Amino acid sequence: MLIKRKQGWELPEAAVTPEGRYLQRRELVRAMGLGAAALALPGAAFAQGKAADPSAGLYPAKRNDKYGVPTPMTAEKQATTYNNFYEFGTDKSIWRDAQKLEVRPWTIKVGGMVEKPFEIGIDDLLAKVQLEERVYRHRCVETWSMIVPWSGFPVRSLVDVCKPLGSAKFIVMKTLSKPSVMPEQRDLLYPWPYTEGLAMDEAMNDLAFIATGLYGKPIHKQNGAPLRLVAPWKYGFKNVKSIVSVDFTDKKPVSFWEKLQSSEYGFWANVNPQVPHPRWSQATEKPLGSNERIPTLLYNGYAEFVAGLYTDRKAEKLFM
Ligand code: MTE
Repeated sequence: MLIKRKQGWELPEAAVTPEGRYLQRRELVRAMGLGAAALALPGAAFAQGKAADPSAGLYPAKRNDKYGVPTPMTAEKQATTYNNFYEFGTDKSIWRDAQKLEVRPWTIKVGGMVEKPFEIGIDDLLAKVQLEERVYRHRCVETWSMIVPWSGFPVRSLVDVCKPLGSAKFIVMKTLSKPSVMPEQRDLLYPWPYTEGLAMDEAMNDLAFIATGLYGKPIHKQNGAPLRLVAPWKYGFKNVKSIVSVDFTDKKPVSFWEKLQSSEYGFWANVNPQVPHPRWSQATEKPLGSNERIPTLLYNGYAEFVAGLYTDRKAEKLFM
């Protein structure tokens, strides 16, 4: 990515929490009859740093393996200590600084071409959707990759809650603006807030996901708490973190990196090993924790689910 700075990808591999343990915890929470609504009150205490995340009881979610379970899983330590979250800094080791992000209360503003604009708190949103776990490949345009278990819900479920007008063609999501916590937002070279979007048919494709959890627990702050986009067939920069607004429009939005450097980054940004980025070949990738490069797959291995979205868009710059 990166216009200004460095890269580095060496971190040791460790073990992933076994799935059985997640599931036991989830069953226990269910047996206690706790849901998002019952947990709403602890939100205030959590915001003051006095309580556990109020949504913790919702995880782990039951795994949906409809899109496969790629292996090997990236170790939690690697996926949560090697991050791109430019608001906190332009290198990969922002995870400590990201702990300053307060994720309760957290309100998402819904607007643009919708029946009625509204605001919704993250715990109210969680109460309206069915959480599940999906193990997805993630491919950064910088050519590192990972395989991680996200928990969350299809973007389609978010769209259902938002009630867009039939004439809406794109969904646009933005990250929190808070320079007091996110110091890089003071650098006005960047077009903050971080903005990304999908065409409506992409958003309605079941593969498009909103992650609220990771490794069987609420998503880590450095990975985009309390909710972020995951479109695994696209380069990782599409996956906007810590979302505070969702808008619907009939005009193709200009996303963060595209605005910064349109010769290098586009809106569609679908993974294609045969289309190099001006500065990086995209033919191979380096999984976090591995010393070997492996071949990159068209649409990051998800062609059978998403290639059809683009048959009538051949004239567009689909792959960067
Ligand atoms: N979202 C915001 N708000 N800020 C960012 O800098 N980086 C993007 C994406 N979402 C980014 C963001 C990029 S370039 C990548 S590769 C992924 O987040 C990295 O996600 P991860 O840190 O969870 O691996």
